[in-house]
Amino acid sequence: MPVKGRNYYQCRECGARAAQWAGRCDACAAWNTLVEVGGATAAPPGATAKRAVPLAEVRCETVERWSSGLSELDRVLGGGLVPGSVVLLGGDPGIGKSTILIQTLASMSASLSALYVTGEESAAQVALRGRRLGLKAPRMKLLAETNVDVIIAQARLENPRALVIDSIQTVFLPQLSQAPGSVAQVREAAAALVRFAKETDTALFLVGHVTKEGQLAGPRVLEHMVDAVLYFEGDSGSRYRLIRAIKNRFGAVNEIGVFVMTEGGLREVTNPSALFLRQDARNAPGSVILVTQEGTRPLLVEVQALIDESPGANPRRVALGLDSQRLGMLLALLHRHGGHATSRHDVFVNVAGGVRVTETASDLAVLMACTSSLLDRPVPRDLVVFGEVGLAGEMRPVPRGQERLREAAKLGFKRAIVPAANVPKRRAEGDIVVFGARQLGEALAHFLLP
Ligand code: TYD
Ligand code: MG
Repeated sequence: MPVKGRNYYQCRECGARAAQWAGRCDACAAWNTLVEVGGATAAPPGATAKRAVPLAEVRCETVERWSSGLSELDRVLGGGLVPGSVVLLGGDPGIGKSTILIQTLASMSASLSALYVTGEESAAQVALRGRRLGLKAPRMKLLAETNVDVIIAQARLENPRALVIDSIQTVFLPQLSQAPGSVAQVREAAAALVRFAKETDTALFLVGHVTKEGQLAGPRVLEHMVDAVLYFEGDSGSRYRLIRAIKNRFGAVNEIGVFVMTEGGLREVTNPSALFLRQDARNAPGSVILVTQEGTRPLLVEVQALIDESPGANPRRVALGLDSQRLGMLLALLHRHGGHATSRHDVFVNVAGGVRVTETASDLAVLMACTSSLLDRPVPRDLVVFGEVGLAGEMRPVPRGQERLREAAKLGFKRAIVPAANVPKRRAEGDIVVFGARQLGEALAHFLLP
């Protein structure tokens, strides 16, 4: 019997099916009548047509998940890799996309078949890297190829459960005249590969490079075609790497996984909450510790600000790791509700360690860091803050306040300034003293008290 999901052959005369091509049909003895038929796409004759069913009657089996071998990557994926799912992994060149996927496939190949398609490096280069990483990958296969038709034909032969295309910008469909990497090629090549993955229940990783503007090249067109979009973040100067889920049909968005790049490849960092904090003991003005909540996990990061008199007529506002539009708004707030003008100053704000903070709970930390730098007065080292600030200068509560405070207390912080509505009813968060502010002015005045 032909295998489900694979191509098979069917006789044009009698309709008999065969797994292999032959010159003569076994069933009706006609010559040259066998033709190739796509596996799962071709409905068998007489198959009942699909019909709508009541929602309550749809059976939902729990989704099967495969471990990638790295628990931090599993976490970002929402608990492991789902068969038949398509994951887009984006990031700057050299950040570790190929490394993590080679490691992942090697680990998965212990229990299932895996195919790594490389369009960037030669098979020898990939193999060399695998050897350097000391990977044992008994059932992992390599293919150096960029023609999508050939890739899919090979994949049908190898029938891998997990497939990596590194990268989507290097592969092409010969039917299209555009160059590899063009939007049309990226979109159509990805569409063909996604179809293959869905048809055969193969887990597919697509690697995508990022342009200078921080978008996946051939960018938005891919995001809606795939089940999950993961994005590498990190400072090129730092050994730490973050992978963030921007979209995930099988898990939470904004979930992050933390890794460290070593000689032996990427290693997971399972308890990263204090990783991005500064190590030196000085009390530097302009530095504030923020408890941010990334996905389901609180993370302590250092927000730094440098405010200096501007030499030019147009003062600069630079935000790294934060929304720069929002910085402009916060500086207006600082003037209006905090009493500090920055119109003649250059303002630089940075989140240390290359972390990107996307939530508005960082508002208070940014404003306090700016004030601290402007007045050249340090913020106590045992203080953490979080909170959104509204346009009227009011402190707005943020989600999961308790969890954030608990994490800060666990790491030894003694004081917190948070929105009043985030103050716990009972004092249960270790021995951290929580000050709840209603207005921005209250929060700023509180930390400036001697
Ligand atoms: P790579 O995975 O090739 O990046 P990408 O595929 O995203 O372009 O990562 C390459 C970088 O990682 C390179 O600068 C060297 C470094 N690296 C290590 O530090 N340790 C290792 O074990 C490996 C394999 C790479
Ligand atoms: Mg690469």
